[in-house]
Amino acid sequence: MSEQKDILLRVEDLRAYYTSKRGTVKAVQDVSFHIRHGETVGLFGESGAGKTSVALSILGIFDQVSRYYASMASDKEHKELWQLRDEARNKGLTSEDMGVTLPGVEGHIWFKGEDLVGMDEEEYRKIRGYDITYIPQGTRKAMNPYTPIDLQTAESLIIHDEDNLLPERYILRRVLEVLDLVELADVDTRKKQKPGQFSQGEDQRILIAMALITNPDLLIMDEPTTAVDVGVQRRILEAIDLVKKNLDIGILLISNDQGVIAEMSDRVAVMTGGRIVEFGDAERVLKHPGHPFTRAFVMSNPTMEIMRRIREKGLVLRGIPGEPPDMADPPSGCVFHPRCDYCIDICKEKVPEYREVDDDYWIFCHRYEELPEF
Ligand SMILES: Nc1ncnc2c1ncn2[C@@H]1O[C@H](COP(=O)(O)OP(=O)(O)OP(=O)(O)O)[C@@H](O)[C@H]1O
Ligand code: SF4
Ligand SMILES: [Mg+2]
Repeated sequence: MSEQKDILLRVEDLRAYYTSKRGTVKAVQDVSFHIRHGETVGLFGESGAGKTSVALSILGIFDQVSRYYASMASDKEHKELWQLRDEARNKGLTSEDMGVTLPGVEGHIWFKGEDLVGMDEEEYRKIRGYDITYIPQGTRKAMNPYTPIDLQTAESLIIHDEDNLLPERYILRRVLEVLDLVELADVDTRKKQKPGQFSQGEDQRILIAMALITNPDLLIMDEPTTAVDVGVQRRILEAIDLVKKNLDIGILLISNDQGVIAEMSDRVAVMTGGRIVEFGDAERVLKHPGHPFTRAFVMSNPTMEIMRRIREKGLVLRGIPGEPPDMADPPSGCVFHPRCDYCIDICKEKVPEYREVDDDYWIFCHRYEELPEF
């Protein structure tokens, strides 16, 4: 299969900026990565790195979310910036063409041969929730407490069946199929129950089933195991594993939990300060990270193997020093420079290139070749 045919989603030079009281928040900057058919890519990074913003951009709702918060602030300057954004969008122009730093999404998100950036909302609606589905961060809020789970599970299928072409029998059979796939116990007797009657782990399984009903090509899961106890986490991971084994689906798995990312991902993209700083095979990225941020991040919550490596190499076990960058006022040059042990003058002045330093392996660092082995 050629490289292009193999690729389900290609994100290219994506930027996504919010407007806020403190000015423009550069949540995503020049982000590029891709997901192949049937593979799971882990988007891994600290809180505030921009992971959810990448997901919202792929789903084509970043501008709406950002605009909504800006409208609450009812600030004249924000309104003008968003008007300019609309004008630029209508004319097919970028911030650079307009000579202004505009809020919203720019760049390219190629999905099945089409660029989703700037796509008309009516067209996007056919893709969102159908070909690309999403389980948001903070799961339970996504469920309606009053609707039985079989109807909730069927919802996306019904919404996208605008001409009522699908027979009811087919829809009900699909509901049972996806609830079975995630191994929800006693589906036949419990399908009429409401979300409050299920455990937290079961709720998450139902959400996964809901996201699978349309047989999507891409499933985005945002922190599926955050704020649950270890037993529930295990059951959620088992459900994700069943999806991976049984369906030929691309998954973007967002998490700041190294264990979850390591267990589920084929490849990993590491994010800090709105940038992907390392992207490649999961084993390589997590066991022998090449980027100073990834090294510091895995050492701040180490696995047994990393602990041993730290001991063997005489390194010091510690968290990442300092604070994550303020994306309303990001550092000059390399976004990690104020916290990096290897920082030299060029790092403060020049933004590193995001480059493919090895086959299928990308790094965002001026000094990658000079760093000690890890
Ligand atoms: N509606 C908003 N308006 C302005 N800034 C925002 C908004 N939402 C998020 N941000 C900022 O954008 C940056 C990226 O946020 P994002 O939620 O994408 O990070 P994240 O990696 O998903 O973090 P977490 O792991 O905490 O979920 C952060 O600096 C955050 O404070
Ligand atoms: S570019 Fe410089 S500051 Fe940034 S990660 Fe590499 S060595 Fe550290
Ligand atoms: Mg998030």
